[in-house]
Amino acid sequence: MRTVRRVLFAKPIATLEQYLDRRGGEGLAAALSMTPEAIIYRLEASGLRGRGGAGFPTGRKWRTLVENRSSTAPTTVVVNSAEGEPGTFKDRSILRANPYHVLEGALIAARAVGANHVVFGMKRSFTTEVARVRAAIAEAEAAGWAAGVGLEVFEGPDEYLYGEETALLETIDGRYPFPRIAPPFRRGIETVEVRRANATAAIGASGRVAMAGPGDSDAAPALVDNVETLANVPRIMQRGAAWFRTVGTDASPGTIVCTVTGTTERHGVAEVIMGTPLRQVIERIGGGPLPSRTIKAVLPGVANGLVTEENLDVPVSYEAMAAIGSGVGSGGFIVFDDTVDLVAVAAGVSRFLGVESCGQCTPCKLGGLALADLLAEVSLSNADERDLESITTRVTTVADQARCYLAQQHHVVIRSVLDRFPAEVRAHIEDRAAPVAPYLVAELVDIRNGVAVHDERFSDKQPDWSYDAESTGKSPADHLGKTRYGEWSFKPDLSVIPKLSDLPE
Ligand SMILES: Cc1cc2nc3c(=O)[nH]c(=O)nc-3n(C[C@H](O)[C@H](O)[C@H](O)COP(=O)(O)O)c2cc1C
Ligand code: SF4
Repeated sequence: MRTVRRVLFAKPIATLEQYLDRRGGEGLAAALSMTPEAIIYRLEASGLRGRGGAGFPTGRKWRTLVENRSSTAPTTVVVNSAEGEPGTFKDRSILRANPYHVLEGALIAARAVGANHVVFGMKRSFTTEVARVRAAIAEAEAAGWAAGVGLEVFEGPDEYLYGEETALLETIDGRYPFPRIAPPFRRGIETVEVRRANATAAIGASGRVAMAGPGDSDAAPALVDNVETLANVPRIMQRGAAWFRTVGTDASPGTIVCTVTGTTERHGVAEVIMGTPLRQVIERIGGGPLPSRTIKAVLPGVANGLVTEENLDVPVSYEAMAAIGSGVGSGGFIVFDDTVDLVAVAAGVSRFLGVESCGQCTPCKLGGLALADLLAEVSLSNADERDLESITTRVTTVADQARCYLAQQHHVVIRSVLDRFPAEVRAHIEDRAAPVAPYLVAELVDIRNGVAVHDERFSDKQPDWSYDAESTGKSPADHLGKTRYGEWSFKPDLSVIPKLSDLPE
């Protein structure tokens, strides 16, 4: 099996000049000679799917944005650079090696959807990547490469939900990362100034953000795309849709940047062809299991079900992973060998999702935390049959009336452990398994010399998102909802609406 280098460069590109010397910029040049419709058509033909986790067709998303443009405010492109999925380090690897092609992809997106602003939604703690992106923006502006599009970096909080796209928009707008009810597309930044009197009531923490829906508002939509998604765009414009499809599968064309961590020889990030068997991805990037150990299960982030040993040869494609009851997620694969207690893993995932839940939906926050406590008791071999019944009930109800997908993730991952490893659960209930503390499931801070560095602070994170010795007992939505996350100088120029006059009627 081979690794490829379409979006993850082997050697870092140090300057814009170096990037342009290596034929960088040709995608943007091609896009500037095309109509927005032609750009979107090419993207649709390429079959590119969003690499942020859901695999939504990128061309279709861009078209929907164009169809729902505002007549009074410009669209904004937001680069989702918030990477927080446990076991994933691919977006930061891409940005470290080459921020220019992400920037180029975002500028092409701006041309296609009629945006005059691009915002990189990053985490303040990503100091290396923030510095790289800021330097790239400064060079692009000095060279006139941004072609009149305003470029900004927004430095947000470390919360997992900050990567959820409506929460990202909320935060850029000055509030905490509390998701909005998912509409068919998003209205974004500074929406309030352009909201029509009859716009649907806001659902964000401050309750003032216009919701998206055809005809309900003239607020500007925001295009939110993942770093890796946008990094794929320049070459699709430069080389064409057919070139993009020369690798990968029909439904999952192209490549994917994967992260492998857990009980493997080493940890790392590399780009592979879509459809590569998962076992080969683990061998190539992670060096396979540790000596004399076998792989028991693989967790593709905390949004999809566990992959069991007998399914390890599943092709890494959206369709094949879904067919075995799992998913590609953001390509981060956490490997567990035969020494790992999967009930402890379930307890760790549950704690992560319970703590990171914002609490706008009671079953997700309170039910999620109760589930985490119960699973911890099972893992510590302190639980009985009644606790197991409670777990079964909680798993069924945790996603009730959920506003965003986090609660569903909780349901899916824990259900997969209960269904696929019932004997391990029973062994704890019947005191046949040794007590084990919950596994630390946390965001990655880095991968250094082949070793993943986890955010160890997460062990002290309270359900109210503080790191205090005691939690307030309130949910983040309850005790932070009335305050502002921060002021930001970002002010899009509402008077300039880029024309899409090239678009056919
Ligand atoms: C709880 C949660 C966390 C998420 N975190 C991220 C993230 O860190 N980065 C990201 O690109 N997408 C994340 N997503 C997915 C985004 O909501 C959204 O689907 C993505 O930005 C769309 O971009 P794409 O179409 O290019 O994939 C998250 C989703 C959920 C539900
Ligand atoms: S489902 Fe959970 S994380 Fe999502 S908005 Fe509701 S409480 Fe918050």
